[in-house]
Amino acid sequence: MHLSTILASVVLTIASLTTAQPLEVRQAPDRFYLQTQVVPGINDCGSNKQGLYVYSYHTGAGLGVAAASADSSDDSWFYLNGTQLMWTYEGNTIGPWPVVVSSYPYQAFNPISISIASAGSQEGYSTNGTGLQSTAAGGGWIACDWWFTAPQIFAVTGYRNTPLPTSCSKVNLILVPVA
Ligand SMILES: *[C@@H]1O[C@H](CO)[C@@H](O)[C@H](O)[C@H]1NC(C)=O
Ligand SMILES: *[C@@H]1O[C@H](CO)[C@@H](O)[C@H](O)[C@H]1NC(C)=O
Repeated sequence: MHLSTILASVVLTIASLTTAQPLEVRQAPDRFYLQTQVVPGINDCGSNKQGLYVYSYHTGAGLGVAAASADSSDDSWFYLNGTQLMWTYEGNTIGPWPVVVSSYPYQAFNPISISIASAGSQEGYSTNGTGLQSTAAGGGWIACDWWFTAPQIFAVTGYRNTPLPTSCSKVNLILVPVA
């Protein structure tokens, strides 16, 4: 082989590696569950927050907040529409509803609504292929024993590095493809 041919194939190989890989890594599955993973090296505080599935905890007709339970439901999943995160239940009988981080000023962490009534929808969600990120959750996610019978999920803003309540665990929200 001529050196130029070898070089060309090397360049092609590198090009296909650099173009194909990041796309594959960042691609979200069409439908996925969001499963909590207590951030490695951090204590799991309060009730167990490991391996729970995020869903819309019913708080009223068409109203819900992000909470998490040990049960996954085959009929309840998330998907990304561009950079909007949507949740749906029972094969679209309920939803799709947008997942919206509330934005109260001066709060260290904000609740997340998953409601028909969510004011519009919210852009800014993405994935690195493993975990969920949002521009509204610069400090990541926490799961806390709060007002409800299931742990509630909040978005951490990082405001003033306020200490978190002792029932809260820092979690990653891992994308698990729906089989
Ligand atoms: C995606 O978003 C667009 C624009 O908001 C909307 O018209 C469309 O219905 C959405 N599709 C799904 C599957 O959610
Ligand atoms: C992706 O994000 C998760 C947290 O959501 C993190 O644990 C993981 O290390 C990240 N992976 C890469 C390749 O950045």
